[in-house]
Amino acid sequence: MKRRKFLRNIAAIGIGMSVVKPNIFGANDKVQIGFIGLGNRGDQVLDAFLPHQDIAITSLCDLYQPYIDFAAKKAGGNPKQFKDYRKLLEQKDVDAVVICTPDNWHCLQTIHAAQAGKDIYVEKPLSLTVNEGRLMAKAIEKYKRICQVGIHRRSVPVCMEAAELVRNGYIGKVTVARSFHIQNEWPIGIGNPPDSNLPDDLDWNQWLGPAPKKPYNINRTFYKFRWFYDYSGGQVTNFGVHYIDFIHWAIGVNFPVAVTALGGKFSKMNDNREIPDTLEVIWKYPDDCLVTFSQFNATGAQWSLPGCEVELRGTKGTLYLFGDGYEIVPDIIKTKEFPARSPLNRDLDKQYREGAKPLIERKKSIKMSTANTTYHTRNFLDCVKSRQKPNCDIETGHRSTSATLIANVALKTNSLLEWDAKSERFTNNNDANQYLSYVYRQPYSLPEV
Ligand SMILES: NC(=O)c1ccc[n+]([C@@H]2O[C@H](COP(=O)([O-])OP(=O)(O)OC[C@H]3O[C@@H](n4cnc5c(N)ncnc54)[C@H](O)[C@@H]3O)[C@@H](O)[C@H]2O)c1
Repeated sequence: MKRRKFLRNIAAIGIGMSVVKPNIFGANDKVQIGFIGLGNRGDQVLDAFLPHQDIAITSLCDLYQPYIDFAAKKAGGNPKQFKDYRKLLEQKDVDAVVICTPDNWHCLQTIHAAQAGKDIYVEKPLSLTVNEGRLMAKAIEKYKRICQVGIHRRSVPVCMEAAELVRNGYIGKVTVARSFHIQNEWPIGIGNPPDSNLPDDLDWNQWLGPAPKKPYNINRTFYKFRWFYDYSGGQVTNFGVHYIDFIHWAIGVNFPVAVTALGGKFSKMNDNREIPDTLEVIWKYPDDCLVTFSQFNATGAQWSLPGCEVELRGTKGTLYLFGDGYEIVPDIIKTKEFPARSPLNRDLDKQYREGAKPLIERKKSIKMSTANTTYHTRNFLDCVKSRQKPNCDIETGHRSTSATLIANVALKTNSLLEWDAKSERFTNNNDANQYLSYVYRQPYSLPEV
């Protein structure tokens, strides 16, 4: 894009070019923070920043005034209030922003914040498309910003311990990793409200941002937007990104080489969701590891061990990751070749098991909520001061998000897609590459980075 057109685009959405400042902090200096998005997650992340003594919440932004009021009361100190994030980005007393808006806004708000010289804590999934995520990573590098992606397990000690055990080979060669989001939402699901007139207390245009213009439907807004593809990749990007990220971390590889997915609204549940209620994704990773994500939202029985989110199956044992820790269950390893079963000698089976024993010890560490985000916000603040890479830097967040986004492309195109992580393109289905980006609604456009 020519510089003049780029400047016109920036002007169209009201962002001025600002000088990127170096951010020099002393250990005791307070990091001044502005929040963009104060709904369900914004409130949780605010809770995870407030225990830290070296912060000041100076600005709050949301489209919904009751959420701003609620957060202002919690934060104290009379923060400035905005409905337009571009005004928040102009504030000199904002060093860092926390972006907890729906996924369709993450890319523009992150890049604009980087251009305005702010450091950034941005929620997962990083982006709505692979191309957006790559552009965001480029912007963070270009403007030399600190960016923590909100895949908070990366900073939780019990998860660090579990990932390190697997990476160091404790459970042997991992051949399969499975992950689960299972919750029976049948028969009412998210409900089925009709499209309706625009509400007085929400700017629908600002909610949509670059997403396509659609009639207002309350289910497309607060929290429930994640059941609609214009604003979210559904549960595979919502929950799945946490799990796939943990798998990447544990197996030491951050991209798949192939993906396929099958699913749909199989229960015919009576709601207006677009995303499947039943989905199975299978990825193949380099060095031969099969990874799956099972989203079963029309049946609720236990899977794996009760409460397990991710299961890594190694040749020596299996690691189960729960919401509050992990457990490693050793396999019994046989020392003899598997026999040909024969009616003439039923003892062969017994003999096969003789001398079999575990090669590793059982381990269990159930002590800490894996949803504890306070460690992640602490790590972000430390990195804002030290200018070191945070635990979930943008490249890590982008790679984990990309793996889940391409699963949706496989579902949409009903295909098995081969993925070249270097070029970030599918190599066996050119049509599928069109879903790596989408056309922004005017006057929004992807900034040139
Ligand atoms: N890390 C986690 O475990 C975790 C948990 C929940 C949600 N999330 C992520 O957090 C994000 C928000 O999800 P949520 O559950 O809080 O949704 P939510 O609907 O409760 O909150 C989103 C908020 O963003 C505001 N908003 C929308 N567009 C805006 C704009 N242009 N400017 C300013 N504010 C705007 C809305 O008014 C709303 O209050 C999503 O990306 C989601 O995936 C992460």
